Amino acid sequence: MAVLTDMRAEVTKVLREAILRAFSDFPSEGLPGPEALETPPDASLGDYAFPCFRLSKALRMGPPAIALKLAKAVDAPEVATAQAVGGYVNFFFNRLNFARLTLDNIKEAGDRYGGEMDNGKTVVLDYSSINIAKRFHIGHLSTTVIGHSLKRIYDHLGWKTIGVNHLGDWGTQFGKMIAAFKRWGDWEMVEAGGVDALTALYVRFHQEAEENPALEDEGRKWFKKIEDGDKEAMEIFQRFKDLTLKDAKRVYDILGVTFDSYNGEAFYNDKMGRVIDELKEKNLLSESQGALVVNLAEDKMPPCLIVKSDGATLYATRDLAAALWRKDNYNFDKCLYVVAYQQNLHFQQVFKVLELMGYQWAKDEMEHVAFGMVSYEGQSMSTRQGNIIYLDELLSRAREKALDIIREKSPDLENPEDAASQVGVGAVVFTTLLNNRIKDIDFWWDRALNFDGDTGPYTQYTHARCASVLRRAKESDARPDDEALTNDEARAVLRALARFPEAIRAAQKGNEPSEVTRATLDVAKAFNKYYYEQRILDEDEGKTQARLELAQAVKRIIALGLYLIGVKAPEAM
Ligand code: ARG
Repeated sequence: MAVLTDMRAEVTKVLREAILRAFSDFPSEGLPGPEALETPPDASLGDYAFPCFRLSKALRMGPPAIALKLAKAVDAPEVATAQAVGGYVNFFFNRLNFARLTLDNIKEAGDRYGGEMDNGKTVVLDYSSINIAKRFHIGHLSTTVIGHSLKRIYDHLGWKTIGVNHLGDWGTQFGKMIAAFKRWGDWEMVEAGGVDALTALYVRFHQEAEENPALEDEGRKWFKKIEDGDKEAMEIFQRFKDLTLKDAKRVYDILGVTFDSYNGEAFYNDKMGRVIDELKEKNLLSESQGALVVNLAEDKMPPCLIVKSDGATLYATRDLAAALWRKDNYNFDKCLYVVAYQQNLHFQQVFKVLELMGYQWAKDEMEHVAFGMVSYEGQSMSTRQGNIIYLDELLSRAREKALDIIREKSPDLENPEDAASQVGVGAVVFTTLLNNRIKDIDFWWDRALNFDGDTGPYTQYTHARCASVLRRAKESDARPDDEALTNDEARAVLRALARFPEAIRAAQKGNEPSEVTRATLDVAKAFNKYYYEQRILDEDEGKTQARLELAQAVKRIIALGLYLIGVKAPEAM
């Protein structure tokens, strides 16, 4: 069902045959594999290039001499022709066959293009992982959309995926919140005000605690009750949690984001003992000012705090428990943490402690998928200064702005609200996943919503354009004449389509959704160039059929690429 065959495999075969023809005693174990082929940045240097220095040592010859001999020995005009340039053999696909192969592959594979069958492996993805009683703000946008996209990418490649929202639902602040609720709050006000009402209670607690320090004791008392599983405390806290999740769910629904588990920090309350006992048993705990820590000086890191002097466990203790629990229950082959780079040290420490406990998998299978900061129109977000940007507000603004643009550009469009919602939300997600995740993002409306830039709307518009061409096409049973697809513009489109599966694999390998975003954008750009230079619908039915097949393939792959990054593909806009 996956790609029948790809050009890389074909050209590798041709290359290997040429090597054996040119150097008859070449050892077959030393023959290059498909990964040896490079993609030249400039199409005039061919579709693939083979760097000959790889063979220099074995052949005791300079790369340019090898390249000349190899290029001459290539004899497969139905696949590609070859040209020696310096130390490289450049391969130029047979355009006619390349076009047919690529289009047939896409037709055959459909939505599964570039995908793989069940590979028997499991990946746990920890993403979004919001904090209870805080409103969803843009600080949690990247983790949410990167994690969601990675889940789709792994799934496409045949992995079993488990998405975990590791809720921040444990900490002394929740005791204070309950104390404040008992004093000044009631359910009516909290249900009406939602998460904001909880935050307000918390703020009031701190203000009043300055005058009345006894409040702090009350907060501690309630926190202790949560920890001991006291019925009333648990009931109140559960409702705080439900409230926060109900709020977050609205954002998740708009983004299409889902999870398989919401087991967060509190879930591990009764699973700490095992971690502490095991650390003790393995002689890894030492005492430091009444606290229990794992010393990491040998690895040039500060100690990892496991139990505080008052007996409370910490964020890291909970992540240790979570890692062990996930390994036991999911038997993962990979466990990814999509969390901002500010937590680099935290994850290095946690992974190291697991390794010291003797869990080799911590080193091989766990990865911190770090990302940069988001600022907004040049201003970084700060909770202290109060310039917080809430995600639901950002997404509604995006829809409104998109609606204005669409009303102006396409006054006759049916259901402009639907399109606006797909375009507005798509613009935000696309911008977030456009560049390497470690780069900081500065979000500007006019950039994100530009219909002519490296944007979601541009890519979606190309999809809608293909859909419109296909709608306008007449039925015909003429055989597609692929000669229509051998010009430079069509070739560029086909190259972008053929490269797409490689981008998906690169995205998985590097946990880098931007590989898919970029590859999708490349297809859209190549197609638009083609569209301006070449006609699609004309009198020659065979040629028209071939071009329509190309448009159909482009539409499919853009839709697939957008799906993999969590963006919708409108049929019209
Ligand atoms: N709730 C944390 C935060 O907002 C992120 C948790 C990430 N996941 C984890 N297993 N530590 O910063």
